[in-house]
Formats: sequence, structure tokens, C-alpha cells
Amino acid sequence: MSDLRSRLEGSPYQGYSYSYPHKTAYRPLPRPVPLAKLWAGERTDSLFLYLHIPFCDMRCGFCNLFTRARPEGSLVERYLAAIERQARVVREAVGDPSFARMAVGGGTPTFLDPPALESVLGLADRVMGVVPGGIPLSVEASPGTVTAEKLRVLVERGTTRLSLGIESFDEAETRAVNRPQRTATVDRALGLIRDSRIPTLNIDLIYGLPGQSVASWLASLRTALRFGPEELYLYPLYVRPQTILGRGGREWDDLRLACYREARSLLLGEGYEQVSMRMFRSAGGLPEAGPAYRCQEDGMIGLGCGARSYATDLHYSDAYAVGQRGVGEIVEAYASRSDEAFGMATHGHHLSDEDIRRRFVIQSLLSGEGLSVSAYARRFRSDLRADLPEIDELEEAGLAVVTAEGLALNDRGVERSDVVGPWLYSRKVGTLMEGYEWL
Ligand SMILES: C[S@@+](CC[C@H](N)C(=O)[O-])C[C@H]1O[C@@H](n2cnc3c(N)ncnc32)[C@H](O)[C@@H]1O
Ligand code: SF4
Repeated sequence: MSDLRSRLEGSPYQGYSYSYPHKTAYRPLPRPVPLAKLWAGERTDSLFLYLHIPFCDMRCGFCNLFTRARPEGSLVERYLAAIERQARVVREAVGDPSFARMAVGGGTPTFLDPPALESVLGLADRVMGVVPGGIPLSVEASPGTVTAEKLRVLVERGTTRLSLGIESFDEAETRAVNRPQRTATVDRALGLIRDSRIPTLNIDLIYGLPGQSVASWLASLRTALRFGPEELYLYPLYVRPQTILGRGGREWDDLRLACYREARSLLLGEGYEQVSMRMFRSAGGLPEAGPAYRCQEDGMIGLGCGARSYATDLHYSDAYAVGQRGVGEIVEAYASRSDEAFGMATHGHHLSDEDIRRRFVIQSLLSGEGLSVSAYARRFRSDLRADLPEIDELEEAGLAVVTAEGLALNDRGVERSDVVGPWLYSRKVGTLMEGYEWL
């Protein structure tokens, strides 16, 4: 018997499982793995290309992403030179990869000035062989860093989706989490983005912020709707080590749950479709066109410090840190890394067969697609229920329904995504995550 029932008695917010295994389960590898050898056995015709820009103009109190605020001196310049070198080494090692999707994230990619932004986006075709405008391209931005000139660069480079972190339209709420953000700046950025005609605008909002109520949360959401975003990501606030906020307890859980439910019902009423616990898509916002890409199955090449790469049984990246000192040291080391070192994976997680299967199950269930028994059997030549007998507990606990294909979370299950995900982690990954030392 698993511990699903006892987990359900705890907080609905036990862990965000957008990628499995989480970076806190990565460790120095027992032996460096040459990338050429690693990728030789992989399908490389439909990869995801991710570029990471670990810089921001502020360090928000809640943020546990790999990023450095206001980098000093020549660090940005040296970083851009290093990412170009890394791209060349990786391209050579992987052979002749083809990409089906591309994203530039961070941090805040639009922290870069227009020529630097142009140079990073240009890496895709200059080095990695991506045809400009040929595949969907998503870029992250923060309101204070958006300018008409940078948007022009993004449009010229074929950006199809721009994701803007707003978090809250209430100045006092963002100020309380060390994110100074003026309403006028946000409005200006949104106006420029809509004028740019980038097809998909995503807005990130956070609920459960200090000082926020259900009413002020809904006011933020209604303000966001005025700009007609094709997508919305609604994040429950998580507070983790190394971020400056300290919150917890039942009351906070109840507030976040109330915010989620009210927002969901508002968005469904406005014609949005719920894709996953956090993601909503407008009726007019079509899933991205482009070559077929299945996140459960296809690999990822990450470039830049902090970017992850996924081969079938090895996920790797640089070491992970959140504290400014730790991030600073890792970025400095990255900027001066040798070409030879860029050709090796040295830090990551070797996925066992069990983890590869669990990853498939977690991603299928939590992405809203649902879990297909036949797709599982085709992929693993194995029976889902024989491998993971506890999966039926989801239905018994009222979190999932049996479908023609297999199993899908119902509304209650989607609401408990952050319990279901961690419940499905293997014992080994759970133990590694618990033993992670935050820097
Ligand atoms: C890379 S940022 C988005 C772009 C840009 N850096 C910005 O902040 O506007 C990714 C998003 O993750 C979310 N996020 C980060 N840390 C979070 C936390 N601790 N709890 C909830 N959401 C968080 C925020 O919504 C944030 O916009
Ligand atoms: S939320 Fe965005 S702007 Fe703030 S520190 Fe994190 S990545 Fe940077």
C-alpha cells in the first residue's frame, strides 16, 4: 500500500513536478560522460533546444530559479562568448541534430541589450542549424526589460510566444516580495507586446503572495484578461530554502486553494481551457504548430549555464544553486570553461529504467494529456499496471477516471497535481531530493 492517502491529508502543495527528476536530485556524476558518446545512441531528429540566460534586473524574494541579479563588469559579455563556444562544441558532439521546438528562458532573456539578444537568438541558426522562423520559439521576459527595439529583434528571429512574468498587478503585493514593479511599466510592456503581433502572449501570475487576498488575486487576473492573453500560467507561491520569504501552515494552503478554485472558475467562464493545474489556454490560442514533439519522449539540448539537457537515461546540467554567491561562482566557472570541458557531462542524474517509466507517467498525467496504457506498452514493451500497480489508487482516491486510453486526472486530481507528482517519484529520487544541500 502506498502513502497516497496520508499525502492527501497534508498540504496540496508538496512539489511542482514539471520536470522529473528535479534538479535537486542531480549530483556530480561518478565519471564524466563524453557528449559524443552519450548522444551517439539517441534519436536526434526532433529535439528541444533550450537557451538559458541567468541574468535579471532584480532578485525577486520568491524566486528559486538559477539566475543572478545585475551582473557586474564584463560577465555578460564573457557569458555570451562562452555560450557560443558551448553551442559549437555541442553541435559537433551531437552530430546533426534537428529541432522541433526552441525556448529561451532564465532568468530574464530580455535583460540583454538588443545586440546581445540578437546574438543569442542567432546562435540557433548560426550554430545549431535551426531555420529561422521554422519552429515554434518561446521567449521569457519581465515587464521592466521589454522595449520596442528588443521586441523587433524577437519578431525578426521568429518568436511565436512571449511569456511575461507579471505575478501581480498590485504594486504593494510585488513590492512585498522584493519585486519593484510599477503598474505603468507593466501596462507599457503589455501594450508593446500586443503591438508586436507575436502570436501568443502568456502571462505568469502568482497566488498566495504575502498580503494578497482572494479578491485582490481575482482583480489581478481580471486585469490580465483585459490584454487578451492566449495563455495564462497561474502559479501557487512556493517558498523554498534560499528565498527570503517564510510562510507556511494550513491557513496559507486554504488561501492558495481558494485562489486556485476562484481563478479556474473565472477562466472557464471566460472560455479558457484548462490544460494542467497551472496552465490555461484561450479558445483562440491554438497549441503551437510545428514539427511533432512529445515532451514525454523527446530529448532536450540545453545551452547556457543552468540549462538542463535530457538524453534518454541521463539528465545533466551545471551544478544548481539559488543563493547569489553560489550562482555567481557557477556562472563565473561557466564563462571560463574550456571547449574540452563543454564536451563532457559532469553533473546530473542517471535515470534507471524505473525512473524513465515514472517520468513518462508523471508527465502524461500532469500535462493534461492523460496516461495511455497502449502508448506505455508500445514505448516500454511492458504493462503499466504490472510496473506500477499503485496507479489504480488514484481512481480509488477520487483523483482520476478511467478513460478509453487509460487514466486521466479529474478536476480534483488536477487540483492535487502537486501531491500526485511527488507521490510518483521513485524512492531513490525522493531520497536524493531530500538530501540536497541548498547553496
Ligand atoms: C523565469 S520567470 C519569468 C520571466 C521573468 N524572469 C520574470 O520574472 O518576469 C518564471 C516564472 O516562474 C514563477 N515562479 C518563480 N519562482 C516561483 C515561486 N517560488 N513560486 C511560484 N512561482 C514562481 C513566476 O511566475 C515567474 O514569472
Ligand atoms: S522571478 Fe524572474 S525576474 Fe525575478 S528573480 Fe526570478 S527569474 Fe529573475
